[in-house]
Amino acid sequence: MSTAKKDYKKITTKSLVDMKANGEKIAMLTAYDFTMAKILDHSGIDVILVGDSASNVIAGHETTLPITLNDMIYHASAVVRACQRALIVVDMPFGSYQSDAKEALRSAIRIMKESGGHAVKLEGGKEIKDSIKLLLKAGIPVMGHLGLTPQSIYKFGTYTVRAKEEQEAEKLMNDAKLLESLGCFAIVLEKVPAKLAEEVAKSLTIPIIGIGAGGGVDGQVLVTHDMLGMTHEFSPRFLRRYLHLYDEMSSAFSRYVEDVKSKDFPNEQEQY
Ligand code: KIV
Repeated sequence: MSTAKKDYKKITTKSLVDMKANGEKIAMLTAYDFTMAKILDHSGIDVILVGDSASNVIAGHETTLPITLNDMIYHASAVVRACQRALIVVDMPFGSYQSDAKEALRSAIRIMKESGGHAVKLEGGKEIKDSIKLLLKAGIPVMGHLGLTPQSIYKFGTYTVRAKEEQEAEKLMNDAKLLESLGCFAIVLEKVPAKLAEEVAKSLTIPIIGIGAGGGVDGQVLVTHDMLGMTHEFSPRFLRRYLHLYDEMSSAFSRYVEDVKSKDFPNEQEQY
């Protein structure tokens, strides 16, 4: 298996499957706005997820449940306008696909048509198989999401690691195989034991992208605001912080306040 990095001009769902086949890991991060998406796209990110985590990170809700289809389309359109290379996957928000397959199709069509995103992501396995089938039949690429599925937080009760027990691990493996057989192009596995995640990745030909799922999977995803350290109240073990922007931004804002109050800003050169 080669680990050489191929130069992809534009990432497609097929590129991701090729990357897995070639042993190249897939790098995915979230974005909800034009400016962040532009920086990510220029930095060589493979996949941008317009995550429903916008509900927490941008809107300040406690869960991902309140964000609407219109909100997701708004965020995704801004991201699409910024990108040339990355594959843009848009989360289908809670309530837009769970009731029946036709509703799921209507919601996914709105996302694809109104935002210009390239694919959608849905949480769940067997329970939503009819919706996934219908979306794929309509030509809409689908990324699955198993393990900790935050839209079901009130069913789980906590955000702790999923599938530690044999029965749940077996269901997860079966769901992953089902998603692959239906035609999903990739699956996000969130907060599951690394050994199980690796077994899933080895059993499937489509890429498994992990968040808190260890290094034995085919790619990694993090919430950008978390890895930049803009959020500081959230510190799960799996999170690597590349910057500590909360502190740096706070200090910049304080300095600005001080400069305005002291009349240091603007100076002679900063006016007309
Ligand atoms: O909404 C989101 O950001 C996600 C990632 C955590 C995978 O679904």
